[in-house]
Amino acid sequence: MKIVAIVGSIREDSYNKKLASFMKEHFKNRVEIAILPIEEIPMYNQDNELMPPDIVKDIKSKIAASDGMLIVTPEYNHSIPGVLKNAIDWFSRVDKVMHNKPVMIVGGSGGALGTVRAQMQLRQILNAPGVSALTLPGNEVFIGSVHEKIDESGDLIHEPTIEFLDTVMEKFMDWIQNNNK
Ligand code: FNR
Repeated sequence: MKIVAIVGSIREDSYNKKLASFMKEHFKNRVEIAILPIEEIPMYNQDNELMPPDIVKDIKSKIAASDGMLIVTPEYNHSIPGVLKNAIDWFSRVDKVMHNKPVMIVGGSGGALGTVRAQMQLRQILNAPGVSALTLPGNEVFIGSVHEKIDESGDLIHEPTIEFLDTVMEKFMDWIQNNNK
């Protein structure tokens, strides 16, 4: 099974990037996770959507060929970061590559709420007609105080969070298989 991951933070030391990298390594025997470079996508412009930049074509084709998507994102000002919204806006147009795509959401923030507000809005965005993704019901992975749960080498070290991720990933895999039956 092939999953593509996008991360809502593009900073070098991003905890959410580290979470995505941890999941890629941790689940490598179960699923192939490829992290896509949405930071290379320019600002969405409707004038260019029929002839998009190569990076947009490339990322869209990888999403289209995948069995599902993983979105790992922080919360910015009670919402999703602009870089993530920008990428989804591109994906929602012309060939609409997220249509019926199974999506699992994970988020980490420094605060106690662990991206609750961002994820609520993200689920709403994923339900917009141009996106029409299939978001895994329930199974909300909110990782609060994320800075205390990742060590210096970037590994997730908080056992209850690892166990919960294991459970949710297993449900996501089963759900994808059942949806494709
Ligand atoms: C934040 N942060 C934040 N945290 C939160 O829980 N709710 C919020 O609304 C915000 N808003 C916000 C806005 C902006 C512009 C920044 C830069 C940060 C804090 C945020 O959760 C924290 O910086 C995370 O570490 C960011 O994720 P990465 O970059 O480590 O993946």
